[in-house]
Amino acid sequence: MSGSLFDEMKRYVGFGPTEEQHLREVAPLLRPHFTAVVTTFYHRIEEHPDALAVIAGGAEQVERLKRTLERWLDEFFTGPWVEAYYENRARIGRMHVRIGLPQHYNFTAMNVIRGELNEIVAQLTDDPAIACQRVEAIDRLLDLELAIMLHTYKEDYAQQLQRRERLATFGEMTSTIAHELRNPLGVIDSSVYLLRGAVGEDARGLRHLEKIRGQVARANRIITSLLDIVRDRPPSRMHSTPGDLAERAAADVLERRGFAVEVAVAEGLPQVLVDPEQMHQVLVNLLDNAVDASGDRGRVRLSARAAGHGVEMVVNDDGPGVEDAVRARLFEPLVTTKDTGVGLGLALCRKVVEAHGGTLRLIDGEALPGAAFAVWLKPA
Ligand code: HEM
Repeated sequence: MSGSLFDEMKRYVGFGPTEEQHLREVAPLLRPHFTAVVTTFYHRIEEHPDALAVIAGGAEQVERLKRTLERWLDEFFTGPWVEAYYENRARIGRMHVRIGLPQHYNFTAMNVIRGELNEIVAQLTDDPAIACQRVEAIDRLLDLELAIMLHTYKEDYAQQLQRRERLATFGEMTSTIAHELRNPLGVIDSSVYLLRGAVGEDARGLRHLEKIRGQVARANRIITSLLDIVRDRPPSRMHSTPGDLAERAAADVLERRGFAVEVAVAEGLPQVLVDPEQMHQVLVNLLDNAVDASGDRGRVRLSARAAGHGVEMVVNDDGPGVEDAVRARLFEPLVTTKDTGVGLGLALCRKVVEAHGGTLRLIDGEALPGAAFAVWLKPA
């Protein structure tokens, strides 16, 4: 993110050295009240089931988040309010986007912080002018915080749109070429049929005609599957359990490839509303990639757990992982790390998952050291 955007935001709300000075001065006076502010903040979340649902880790996670919010408040009052500050706040914003925190909670939650801080600040001094300056400085920085948070939602939306457009262009091109190829293939096929009579009993001639027919059939099959995948088929959704999806995908891989995927499904997961066939294809595609990456003797794990207010299914392998150079473009069509791949798999998997209102991402820190792909889905 460009530094100038943060500078521009600061200029717009009028946040400069004077406001910084006020915040630094009031910091030691406010610090003893941070715990109370954080407690009120989480009380409010606990009163709203839709907000609370985003915190999948329960009471333990709330306790951890309380400590991080105290740290957030400390940084709020001490800065420095430079580019690194912006980047760190944007990272937190992206966290909220990733866990599916609805955008409106940014406003309501920030307002709780605003109300609490303003009330305490008013009680710290008898001088209304000083109180007013402090409140003003806090308000301006809270507006900046909100602007940064909202910007991360916009970033995410723009990325999704860009991906969709790229995939749509790619789909159009693919289907045009595929349709155009059908005609010459049809001509070849009928010419082969006619030539059979001319060749008569010549074994060598017949063998070559058979070869041509085989290859034409193969080309037709490729065209059919290309058209199948670029066609926008809306998901036909039904209630499914993450456990069933995981078991079925693992069974598919075992049957086709003789590879035993380790399945770990957390208890008490909610059902998801998905097109079972499409989601099966996504999981099988990710598992196939994982098996390719880990090799015959490697390990592949498919887990399902609660995350955000939904379910996260993670395909993780012990292969070499994804190189940094490829990471940024991994989900673009035609990007592949395999010698024989066309590079449609991940782009299409993401398209299917997003059509379900979910996300597909490459994540870090899983049990096995290789790549980990996380499919996040909303609860039914
Ligand atoms: C608008 C004011 C908010 C602020 C200032 C704020 C602050 C933060 C901070 C500092 C973190 C990062 C913790 C870390 O580094 O590990 C975080 C993460 C998180 N926040 Fe917020 N938050 C806000 C609103 C909310 C709301 C309304 C909810 C939901 C009810 C929420 C749920 C979460 C969750 C679940 C995470 C953890 C994400 C993860 O571990 O992947 N936040 N927030």
